[in-house]
Amino acid sequence: MILPKDFKKELSPFIDWVHDYLNDVTAYPVKSKVQPKDIYQQIPPQAPEQPEGMQQILQDLTEIILPGITHWQHPNFHAYFPATNSVESIFAEFVTAAIGAQCMIWETSPAAAELEERMMEWLRDAMGLPGHFEGVIQDTASTASLVAILTAREGVTNFRSNFEGVPDNLRIYCSTQTHSSIEKGVGIAGIGRNNVVKIEVDDGLRMIPGQLEAQIAKDLEEGLKPCCVVAALGTTSTVAIDPLKEIADICQKYRVWLHVDAAYAGPILLLPEYRWMIEGIQQVDSFVFNPHKWMFTNFDCTAYFVRDPESLIRTFDILPEYLKTNTRGLVNDYRDWGIQLGRRFRALKLWFVMRGYGLTGLREKLREHLQLNQFFAEEIDQLSDFEIVVPPALNFTGFRYRPAGVNDDSELNQLNKRLLERINRRGNIFLTHTKIKDVYLIRMVIGHTYVEKKHVERALEEIVQVALELTDIR
Ligand SMILES: Cc1ncc(COP(=O)(O)O)c(C=O)c1O
Repeated sequence: MILPKDFKKELSPFIDWVHDYLNDVTAYPVKSKVQPKDIYQQIPPQAPEQPEGMQQILQDLTEIILPGITHWQHPNFHAYFPATNSVESIFAEFVTAAIGAQCMIWETSPAAAELEERMMEWLRDAMGLPGHFEGVIQDTASTASLVAILTAREGVTNFRSNFEGVPDNLRIYCSTQTHSSIEKGVGIAGIGRNNVVKIEVDDGLRMIPGQLEAQIAKDLEEGLKPCCVVAALGTTSTVAIDPLKEIADICQKYRVWLHVDAAYAGPILLLPEYRWMIEGIQQVDSFVFNPHKWMFTNFDCTAYFVRDPESLIRTFDILPEYLKTNTRGLVNDYRDWGIQLGRRFRALKLWFVMRGYGLTGLREKLREHLQLNQFFAEEIDQLSDFEIVVPPALNFTGFRYRPAGVNDDSELNQLNKRLLERINRRGNIFLTHTKIKDVYLIRMVIGHTYVEKKHVERALEEIVQVALELTDIR
């Protein structure tokens, strides 16, 4: 057991460890190469009876745990969407752990509540979101979208579902490209996953507003109750941007809750030239994005904004005797703004990151990523054996290997699947895939905090080299 007085002495090897990890992360395979249960079997089945020294624990961290880590902070991590950190956010998490506050209500740490309120205002204003939005930090976009669905459900049932149960005729609308968290949330909200209506998309994989309106009108005729529409600003597969203004007008016409899922792409709104994508935002009821994805604030940190905090609070507040305080109503008790009671002090890392980078620094990083992606797409486009399947969208490009003479889509799908598996097995870069209209494509996302052109060049070399090897084998 270490006493606080020995903190400095015991800390120094950990500082070195973290320093080395951050600086040498490229020495590791991006994607862990272990097999199922490799790590589990190295951990003793029982907790130690006697205390162990930090030195031993640190050694095991290096020898047992590190091989089983997929290195999300590796600059050649181009898979999924990134979960970025930064030195600033690491410092903040360190301090957060030391303070160890549980920030469920204002009284349990007034600074946490008030910093959170201010950070949400900073983000709102920096991103050009409406001044009437009020925000709260949630753990993930999945939770925030569930919160939106629950609030919409309460609104459309006059706040009776919480008490009486959920009617069976509520309907939720989103596009075929919407993230699975929406369908999951609808199930959890008791609305029933079968009541999610997936609206078709156009060639750019954006929701078709005309089809949304037709579906809502049809449902109304059949006695169903439109509850919530979810528009995506940046879909998971291809970063498609739904036409918000047209969707917002339909929601206003039929008085349906409009939730915007900008989980990944949200930070792009820090760049004024991208604000075209939020035309119609004044009519939006709720909006979520993840600073933990592309805003250099380590996982977890989700920003959730609402137009009307009263309906959010009415959906979630419940007041047992042991939580009664004299400040209730005068301050934000964020336990009333979501599902959980206990809350981490997440605002601190946003404060560190936004101050440490300044808005200018954040914008510079985003612009660098956009340029790197443009460079990547141009290079892929020039390779005769590759083709761009989804043109560059923000810092994403969808491509596939298409060697001369192979034209059959299912053969190409198999080939690209094998290419991706080989690339990832080698461990120099990490990419993932998606399927669009039965076409298997490889997703390239360039969003790591410290990624540079040399890393993108490395990725290109790797992709080409593995493709050549594959061709030799065929
Ligand atoms: C568009 C979109 N929405 C929601 C999510 C879920 O995010 P979270 O992991 O924060 O729940 C993702 C994850 O990638 C996403 O891309």
